[in-house]
Amino acid sequence: MAQLWGGRFVGETDKMAYDFNASIGFDKRLFEEDIEGSIAHVTMLAKQNILTEAERDSILQGLSGIKNDVKAGRLAIDETCEDIHSFVETELIRHVGDVGKKMHTGRSRNDQVALDMRLYTRKRVQETDGLLRDLLFVILAVMEENLETYMPGFTHLQKAQPVTLAHHYGAYFEMFKRDRQRMADIYERMNYCPLGAGALAGTTYPLDREYTASLMGFAGPTLNSMDSVSDRDYLIEFLSALSTVMMHLSRFSEEIIIWNSNEYKFVEIDDAYSTGSSIMPQKKNPDIAELVRGKTGRVYGALMSLLITMKGIPLAYNKDMQEDKELSFDAMDTVHDCLVLFTGMLRTMRFKKEQMAASAMNGFTNATDAADYLVGKGVPFRDAHGIVGRLVLYCVEKGTSIEKLSLEELQALSDKFEEDIYEAVSLKTCVEKRLTLGAPGMEAMKQVIAKNKAYLDIE
Ligand code: ARG
Repeated sequence: MAQLWGGRFVGETDKMAYDFNASIGFDKRLFEEDIEGSIAHVTMLAKQNILTEAERDSILQGLSGIKNDVKAGRLAIDETCEDIHSFVETELIRHVGDVGKKMHTGRSRNDQVALDMRLYTRKRVQETDGLLRDLLFVILAVMEENLETYMPGFTHLQKAQPVTLAHHYGAYFEMFKRDRQRMADIYERMNYCPLGAGALAGTTYPLDREYTASLMGFAGPTLNSMDSVSDRDYLIEFLSALSTVMMHLSRFSEEIIIWNSNEYKFVEIDDAYSTGSSIMPQKKNPDIAELVRGKTGRVYGALMSLLITMKGIPLAYNKDMQEDKELSFDAMDTVHDCLVLFTGMLRTMRFKKEQMAASAMNGFTNATDAADYLVGKGVPFRDAHGIVGRLVLYCVEKGTSIEKLSLEELQALSDKFEEDIYEAVSLKTCVEKRLTLGAPGMEAMKQVIAKNKAYLDIE
């Protein structure tokens, strides 16, 4: 049981209490950040003449030795230590001797862990942004190729008006683009260095906090030492943004599951991203999409959990905050895997375009356009709506659709119908006449694609 604080104690820690308190089992993944923070801290201590250059050099050499040894597998992280900070310090002293005991001058594990977690989270915010960017490239490629791939658009999961696959994917492009903007916002707000806050009230040593912050690429130091050691807002923001990413992935997954069903048959998921059944030989199941949808719950859970953990904690540091790690790591790993797999699934998914167009044709998706046609012939919209409603009822009873009716049948409901009605309610016209910016018509879509390409820096 290696711990850094034995002096004040006479008795031994209860074994179960020690294990309950220890965090090395999960904070070992902060190993590199812990070393990076110590390197910056020690470099600053020497600049401020709190350590000599010789002391600095041996500590830095020791730290880089530990880092290399662990990375090369020559040194295992000792999980009997209380936490990753204790492990690194204990190893340092073992490597370089008593001078290693000077590393923690002017520092507390409270500002140390606040720093480690920020350094780690900062990387994962960038990583998430990169994965979202990869996904946007795949979505945009599908959009460019499917400007004329017609499909039904739905409201209430009832066929509403025809759209295109490019347009439908374009909706997700916007969602994931906003997710990236959230990553950028979070990064900017969190990028301040808490090191130097000490346990809660700063230190009596003349630390140069601006300098340590700049060594680690922070925009500057945080400005209140109590806040620095007890702020987990940035994690809550990140978990919230990750929850939103998952909400988007889950909705998209749900649609893919529907499109992949026997009833729809709009898409075929590649074998690489499907699984079979142990009993039903015919089955090819969309398990990856289902798991992405399913794992959304645990990411939301992490957000709720941390919000609740934080809500009753008095200033400043309290051990409750150690609970920020496991759930955040789990959420970050989950979103990482979901983004990678979802992007792969999307990249390899095939579309059954004829099936999609056939589905867009039936279900009266051209009813609004039939009404608009009558409006064009001088019928007030409300009357046109009523006429086409009766037309649809007639078709439902006859088991047919608007464009299949004869001109006589159409004219029985309104003498405004003429030969050009067939052109007006064709699938192509229904889509192509929708040219407001953001609508599915080809010229409107091309403008949006050009903007999206500029956003992704594509020629
Ligand atoms: N493992 C602790 C955490 O994650 C590190 C900080 C410990 N500080 C303390 N005063 N015991 O929050």
